Formats: sequence, structure tokens, C-alpha cells
Amino acid sequence: MIPILRSTKFVLRPFRQSDARSLAAHIHDREIARNTANIPYPYTLKDARRWLEKTIKDMQERRPKNVNFAILVDRGVVGGIGLHNIKHAHKAEIGYWLARPYWGQGIMTQAVRLVMRYGFHRFKLKRIFAFTFPWNKGSQRVLLKAGFRREGLLKKNVKKGNKIFDSLIYAKVR
Ligand SMILES: CC(C)(COP(=O)(O)OP(=O)(O)OC[C@H]1O[C@@H](n2cnc3c(N)ncnc32)[C@H](O)[C@@H]1OP(=O)(O)O)[C@@H](O)C(=O)NCCC(=O)NCCS
Repeated sequence: MIPILRSTKFVLRPFRQSDARSLAAHIHDREIARNTANIPYPYTLKDARRWLEKTIKDMQERRPKNVNFAILVDRGVVGGIGLHNIKHAHKAEIGYWLARPYWGQGIMTQAVRLVMRYGFHRFKLKRIFAFTFPWNKGSQRVLLKAGFRREGLLKKNVKKGNKIFDSLIYAKVR
């Protein structure tokens, strides 16, 4: 059972199939695609439906490997944040995106803190890590503000289409 996590500015709850329209409308942004490894642009309603189907199925497992929360402001899905490739009692990767009108209000820093706390507790994690592209200063700042430390630069780590990019790795351990 994935909980609902609340902050004063937003709510995090597990994604639902009925989020498809709101998800597609908010994630369809060249900047979001450019800054993430796996989000395409354009992002269609079909992409949203397919991703939600898989995500919801993943979360029904007894020991889920992936947990994804929708970020809700005024009831609309304006972002997403998740723990991926969860290795119980060890580690998981954190990933996130937020629709452009909501940037710069501290939403993602707070969301990372909430999901981090949930992950450490619920899955007994010792390590939560994140990758960012070297140019993504906003995301690097989010991670630092949430208490992550920069561990290094991974050369030619990500293939996007036919191009290969370096990535920075950040982690929070306990
Ligand atoms: C990165 C992203 C999640 C940040 O979300 P957010 O809610 O705006 O983040 P916050 O408001 O909590 O914090 C952003 C911080 O980055 C800073 N920042 C933003 N752009 C910056 C830039 N170009 N250079 C330096 N700092 C920058 C902000 O000033 C803020 O820091 P501050 O509080 O010290 O002023 C959002 O911009 C986004 O979804 N981007 C596209 C997708 C993406 O990059 N996902 C992450 C992939 S690793």
C-alpha cells in the first residue's frame, strides 16, 4: 500500500489511470525532455496511458521495484517523483519532474525530502541516489538543498536517441 504524503503546497499520491490527460498535458515540454533520460518529447496521451498502466502494475507487487507519486497542486497532476530499481534494505534511485509554471517555489526540494524519508523508512534503504545532466543546475540545487552530496561525474553514462552524455551522480546515505 503506497501512502499519501502531504505538504502545505502539494500532495503526493500514487498515480491513477485517470491521471492520463493531466499527466500528458503537464509533462509535454521540451525542457523536461531535455533534462531527463527517459521522458520523450512530444509526449502523447498514448505515452501517458502506457506509462500509467506499467506504473500502476509495478506498485501492486508485494515488494515493488518502482514507486511513483503524482505531485498534485489544486487537484491537477503537475509533476511526478519516484523511487526506481528499489533494492530492499539497500538502495534506490530517485527521479522527478515538475511542470514549468510551478518551478522555483521550493516544491521539488520538499517533495524529494518527503519521498526520501518515506524510502529510508518503508524500504529500509541505506542509499538514495540521483543522476543529473551536467547542465541541469536547478536539479543539482534541489539535491543539495535536500541533503544529497555530489559523488562524481560519470563520463558518457546516458544514451538519449543517438547521442551520449555525461551525468553527475548525487547520493544521500544513512
Ligand atoms: C529541476 C526541477 C525539478 C526543479 O523543481 P523546483 O520545484 O523548481 O525546485 P525548487 O524550487 O525546490 O529548487 C530549485 C532551485 O534551483 C535553483 N535554480 C533553478 N534554475 C537554476 C539555474 N539555471 N542555475 C542555478 N540555480 C538554479 C533555484 O533558484 C532554486 O534554488 P534556491 O531555492 O536556492 O533559489 C524542475 O525545474 C524540473 O522539473 N525541470 C525539468 C525536469 C528535470 O530537470 N528533472 C530532474 C532530472 S535530474
